[in-house]
Amino acid sequence: MGFIMNIAYVNGEYVPIEDAKVSVRDRGLMFSDGVYEVAAIINGKLIDNFEHLKRLERSLSAIKLLSPVPVSEIPDLEKELLTKNNIKEGTLYLHVTRGESDREFAFPDIVKPSLVMFVQSKNLIHLKPDDLSAIVITVPDIRWKRRDIKSIALIAQVMAKQIAKEEGADEVWMVEDGCITEGGSSNAFIIKGDKLITRNTDNMILSGITRKAIMTLAEDFGISIEERAFTVDEAYNATEAFFTSASAFIMPVVRIDGKLISGGKPGPISLKLRELYINFAIETAI
Ligand code: PDD
Repeated sequence: MGFIMNIAYVNGEYVPIEDAKVSVRDRGLMFSDGVYEVAAIINGKLIDNFEHLKRLERSLSAIKLLSPVPVSEIPDLEKELLTKNNIKEGTLYLHVTRGESDREFAFPDIVKPSLVMFVQSKNLIHLKPDDLSAIVITVPDIRWKRRDIKSIALIAQVMAKQIAKEEGADEVWMVEDGCITEGGSSNAFIIKGDKLITRNTDNMILSGITRKAIMTLAEDFGISIEERAFTVDEAYNATEAFFTSASAFIMPVVRIDGKLISGGKPGPISLKLRELYINFAIETAI
């Protein structure tokens, strides 16, 4: 895991992380009334940031919240944060909450939203072979029905990932009606024969930015894609499996609920797609 660097952004100010504070009455704390984004950093630049900010705007509008600074001005604030931290590789986390108010469920009449950002250092590209062999367990998907919103209400995933940790697994794949929805903090893919299969996007999963980029790269590479729900059994019997996210890129899966996938080794197509994605990320980072 990465460690938190020194400087955070809190509502217009860059402050040492130990001084980066919000009110105990922040609605993010009381109600998880907010949305967030995580973007990868490589060579001191952000990956697919335009897409992340577009999704931030969608999440904000879904919960009827306005960013305290126009979203179009966020990239300059992010760049300043990267520079101040001198970070080369890792992740940038940001969230917008509905700010401070009395504890009333409905929106306060006067809203002063809060924007917070910080970075974490993490090795994203140069991983050891062992770090490219993820173990997955399946858990029931107990979340709400607006998973397309990147909400900071993450307790279902926190609980699920804690179970994974206790069982020595790296990620959970959440199951609903016999099918995998997505990972605890990633999108799930399987390869069956020559087809790449991943769940279609609707309100029941998050529309991953890495997912979208990988589907384009896979298609350009000549791999056909089926966007549909797939069952747990299909996952167990997959030729290969992997998950995608801003913080993992493409992570090959070698075991699901104890069943070996692709002989317990990262699959060749997964590794090829990972390589293509890393090249894309390096070339397009801004
Ligand atoms: N999570 N699905 C869920 C539920 C997620 O939380 C994430 C990302 C994804 C992948 O989306 P993207 O490719 O845009 O990162 C899918 C981030 C990394 C997190 O919560 O840390």
